[in-house]
Amino acid sequence: MNENRWLNDIWSKLEVKMSAQCDRVGDRIPYIPVDGVYQEDKAETDMYWWTNGFWPGMLWHMYHATKEAKYKEAAEGVERKLDAALQGFEGLHHDVGFMWLHSSVANYRLTGNEASRSRGLHAASLLAGRYNPDGRYIRAWNDAFISWMIIDCMMNIPLLYWASRETKDPRFAAIARIHADSTLKHAIRADGSSNHIVELNPNTGEFVAAPGGQGYETGSSWSRGQAWALYGFALSYRHTGDQSYLNAAKQIAHYFIANVSLTNFVPLVDFRAPSEPRYWDSTAGTCAACGLLELAESVPELEKPLYREAAVHILQAIDKRFCNWNEAQDSIVAGGTAAYHSRNGDFGVPIIYGDYFLIEAIMRLRNQHELLW
Ligand code: GLY
Repeated sequence: MNENRWLNDIWSKLEVKMSAQCDRVGDRIPYIPVDGVYQEDKAETDMYWWTNGFWPGMLWHMYHATKEAKYKEAAEGVERKLDAALQGFEGLHHDVGFMWLHSSVANYRLTGNEASRSRGLHAASLLAGRYNPDGRYIRAWNDAFISWMIIDCMMNIPLLYWASRETKDPRFAAIARIHADSTLKHAIRADGSSNHIVELNPNTGEFVAAPGGQGYETGSSWSRGQAWALYGFALSYRHTGDQSYLNAAKQIAHYFIANVSLTNFVPLVDFRAPSEPRYWDSTAGTCAACGLLELAESVPELEKPLYREAAVHILQAIDKRFCNWNEAQDSIVAGGTAAYHSRNGDFGVPIIYGDYFLIEAIMRLRNQHELLW
C-alpha cells in the first residue's frame, strides 16, 4: 500500500477505535488491558503511576484533530483526578513530565485553561526540586536512589523548558540543560547507544557506575531507553537550539535505525541480548518513530528522508504485526514490554504508551500534530 493510502487508512481506523474507547473508558486511567478490556483504573490503584498522563495525552491529540467535546471532557476528568497525586506529593518522582505535560500542559496549550497552567507549573517546580546542584543531575525515583539519574528523564525535562518559557524565569531551563549535558556526558556511549541508569557521586557529580536497568544486563542496550534518548535529545535541541543535542539525537537515531533494520523494523526489547529467544517491544518502536519524525523537522531538507522513512518503516511494521483495530476491544498496539526480565503481566502485551506514541506519530505524519512536549 502506498504511504498516503496507508496513512488515510490508519487514521480512519484510529478515529473509530479511539471514539469507541473514549466512550468505554472515559475519565478512568488505563494502563494494560486484560483480555481486551481495561479493567484496572490507575486512579484507584496507583494515582502516582508514571504512565497516568498518556491516556489524557491521547485524548487531547484526538480533540485537537476532531474537535469532538467528548475527548476534552474525558481528558479534563483525568486531569482533575491527578490533583490527588499533586497534593499527595510523596509518591511523585522524576516522571512528573510524562504525567502533566500530556494532561494539564496539553489542556493549557489547547484551550488556554489557567488552572491547567498552574498545575503544569506546580509539576515543573516539583521536577526542578529534584535537581542536585553538586551532582548536576535530576535524581531518579525515590527512597535510596539519591545518586541515580536515568535516560528516561530526558523525556521529562521538556516540562522545565515549557515552565521557563511560561514564567520567563530561566531557572527551570537551566536545570534541564545541565541535566541534559550530564546525560550526554555519562549515559550516551561512543557508538550512540545509551546506558539506562548512571550512578554519580551526589556531592561531586563524578561518574561512579552504570548499573543495568530494564534491559538484558549491565552494558546492554534496552531499546526503549534508546528511544527515550533519541526523542529526548531531539526535543532538547528543539527547546534550546544547542547543536550538541542535535548531534547526539542523530547519532542515537543512526544506531537505532541500524539495529531495528535487522529485525524488519520492529525493535527487540534489548538490541544486545541473546538472539534467542526473541523478545519484542513495540513501544520502543512507536516512541522512536516520534523521535525520528521530530529529527526530520530539525535537519536540513536533504537529510529529512532518512529519518522520516525510517519512522514510516517502523510504524508500518508495527501496524502490520501488532495493531488490533477491533473497536470492541481496548488498546491498539500489542507486543509492548516493560522490561526484559519483567514477567508481571507487562511483558509482550499492549501498554498505554505504545498507543500514545502511535497516535502522536500518525498525527505528525498527517501534519495534524500539536506538540505536547
Ligand atoms: N519510564 C519507565 C519505562 O520506560 O519503563
